[in-house]
This record gives sequence, C-alpha cells and structure tokens, in this order.
Amino acid sequence: MNETTSPRPNNLDAFWMPFTANRAFKTAPRLLASAKGMSYYTPDGREVIDGTAGLWCCNAGHARPEIIEAVQKQAAVLDFAPTFQLGHPLAFQAATKVAQITPPGLDHIFFTNSGSESDDTALKIALAYQRARGQAQRVRLVGRERAYHGVGFGGLSVGGIGGNRKQFGALLPYVDHLPHTHAPEHNAFSRGQPAWGAHLADSLENLVALHGDTIAAVIVEPMAGSTGVLVPPVGYLQRLRALCDKHGLLLIFDEVICGFGRLGAHFGCERLGVTPDILAMAKGLTNAVVPMGAVAASDAVYNTIVEGAPAGIELFHGYTYSGHPLACAAAIATIDVHVREDLPGRALALEKYFEDAAHSLKGLPNVVDIRNMGLVAGVELTSRPGQVGDRATKVFHRCFDAGVLIRTTADIIALSPPLIAEKSHIDRIFETLAQAIRAEAD
Ligand SMILES: Cc1ncc(COP(=O)(O)O)c(C=O)c1O
Repeated sequence: MNETTSPRPNNLDAFWMPFTANRAFKTAPRLLASAKGMSYYTPDGREVIDGTAGLWCCNAGHARPEIIEAVQKQAAVLDFAPTFQLGHPLAFQAATKVAQITPPGLDHIFFTNSGSESDDTALKIALAYQRARGQAQRVRLVGRERAYHGVGFGGLSVGGIGGNRKQFGALLPYVDHLPHTHAPEHNAFSRGQPAWGAHLADSLENLVALHGDTIAAVIVEPMAGSTGVLVPPVGYLQRLRALCDKHGLLLIFDEVICGFGRLGAHFGCERLGVTPDILAMAKGLTNAVVPMGAVAASDAVYNTIVEGAPAGIELFHGYTYSGHPLACAAAIATIDVHVREDLPGRALALEKYFEDAAHSLKGLPNVVDIRNMGLVAGVELTSRPGQVGDRATKVFHRCFDAGVLIRTTADIIALSPPLIAEKSHIDRIFETLAQAIRAEAD
C-alpha cells in the first residue's frame, strides 16, 4: 500500500473517538492513512509534516525499518506468552535494555501498556513501598495543578486539569495538589528553564504541615507537556527532591513525554539534574509502533517491596500484556536506534535552532508567551472572549490544511517534532504556523 492507495472509511459512526469532538470531526474528518520519516500522508496522498511526533511518541520518526522488522519477526516466533509466574526471554532483554538508559539506580523495570497505566502503576508501587517499610499510614498522594497523568482513576486524581476530571465524580480520596509553575507575569518568553519560581516547590512544606506523615509520594512531570509546555523553573525540581527526602516521601517523575530524547537526554531527569525514586514512561519507548509503557523503580523501592516480602507474590499488580513479546521487540529495536543514532544528542544539538525558530513568532498577533526546552515549544495565544480554544483550534485547522501537524491545548500550541527533524522541517513548521497565526489575528 502506498500513500495514494490507502483505504478511506465509508462509515465514521462506530468509532467513538477519544478526546475528540466526535460530531464536529465526523462532519469534516481529517484522516491520516500512512506515514514515513517526518511525514504523514492523507488518504488522497497529501503530505502533512509531523510537528508533534504523532502524540509526542514517534520520536525516532515514522516507519523505521529496524523497528518494523523486529516486530514482524517476533510475531512469527512468539506471538504471546504470559508473564504471570512464567516468562519469555524478550521481556528480560527489554527490561535490561530500558535499565541501560535509565539513570543509575533506577534499574527495576515494570512493564505496562500505556502512560496512564504507568502512572497508576507508579502510584501503587509508592503506596506498597510505604506499607512495606512500616509506614502504612502514608496513603496520601500529591500531584500538581495543571498536570496530566493520563486517564486512569489514579492518574486522573493526581492530575490537575479540571476539564478532564469534571465528568467523573469524586475520584480517589486522600489526594492533594501543589500549585502549578505557570507564571507568565514573571517568565514570559523564557528560553529554556525560567528563572523565577523555584520557591513554588516549598508549597510541599504546607501540605506536609497539613497532612503530617500521611503522604506517600509526590508525582510531577519534569516538564509538563499536555497542559501547554510548562518548563520547570531553575532549581524547582531540586527543591522538590530535597523536601521529599526530608519528609520521607517518594518522588515520582512522569516522563511519558519527557523521556526518550525529547529534552535532549534519554530522560528529562538527566537533563534537569534530579533523579526521582520512580520514573514512569511510555510513548517513545516503542516509538509507538506497539503500545507499551514502563515504570523504573529504584533499588530501595524494589528491595523494600520484593526482598522484604514473605515468600509468594510480592506485588499484587500486573497486566495481561505486561512485557508483551511484540512490544518488547519494538522497545529493544527503538532503544537501539536511539543509542546508535544518538537521538538525544541530536535533539540537544538542534535545540538552539528550534528555540530561535519558535521565538521568531514573538510579536505576531495574540502571541503572549513562547517557551521551550529540548525539541518542545509552547506558543500561547490570547483567547477570543468567551471562546477559549477557538483561536488555536482554527490555527490547527489552517496548519493541517497547509500540510503541517501541530497540537493545541486550549489556546496553547505545542510543537514536538520527531528527533530526526532537519532544519528545513523546523523552518517549514514555524513558517506555516506563523501564517496561520496571522490569519487568525482578529
Ligand atoms: C505526561 C503524561 N502522562 C501520561 C500520559 C498518558 O499516556 P497514555 O495516553 O498512553 O495513557 C500522557 C499522554 O499524553 C502524558 O503526556
């Protein structure tokens, strides 16, 4: 099948689309039928440059032959084997491969199938750890306003995006939130980490004062992605780390977006100089070829739960597809590509060019902030009165029609191209975006 002969569906009714305005979409569908390298192709063969690596996940570019071949080969050898009380070689190889790129000391890998499952798994491991070390009263989880930790009840509860929560009732009890770090009045148009805001981490002291020794863990995205690209202020994560240590709380980093080279290192924590106790990942792990997530736990966390348990199952948690053979094959091949081509180094080398291109939008109508790190940029627009998200949605449609895929949250535009991008792709993405922003100037 090539770009021009891909099938076009003749009925759009049955697929209840996720996070989509189903009625609006189905009256004017935008379909992607194939992909290669930096580009998608529509069913009629029109090229759309991928400014978002799919959904922040195809970091090595689309249709990588190495990954495709590994998955095809594995499907013929072992389609599936359970990992409950059984094993298959690739799951152990994949875990070892992941542990080779996680920060030293975060070497125990639990496999999941998505970012949401990784976050819920990380939260459950934190609770199990506190109980195993004799701190069973630590049942409280702390998240942060404006955080996105997926759509499971755990991740949603610690998440901080009101719109995602309001349809679903009370969610988990015993959850509290830190303030978010978005402060355009101090930090607008920052390049890289903003200077102002490290002290916002000190709010954790207030939560400890309020909740005493009942907090198990704090979870944050090192750089908050889905909420509109919030880069952590200089020193903020260091302060959070120090406060977690002081009060006996585990620090969980949700690196579902920050991982796999996005911030110019294998993981964001490496770039930002702070190591968590538990690291949740997904997306770029398999280049999105097969769904997979993972959680990396520290020696202390793993040993406390596993070595400290009586004989028998140590952690009553897992998914039928934890360590699925096809996902493992994809993960191994993906990490090999990242290491061989030094994709994190490539992202770091391109960062300045990408940053300059993003900040060249300063001065365009309604652009009130631009922020960036690694190969991520957020461009914030003023909202039309009473119509939050309308302007950015129309910019998105204009870019799509002009052959560039961007992503929007309310009136914030996020760019996160595959790490194989050339400067010419970056030019094209930002030129197209500039034209679309100008066209929506009213
Ligand atoms: C930081 C973060 N955590 C968790 C998730 C959820 O991942 P998934 O959609 O694979 O469940 C996402 C998805 O965008 C994310 O950005």
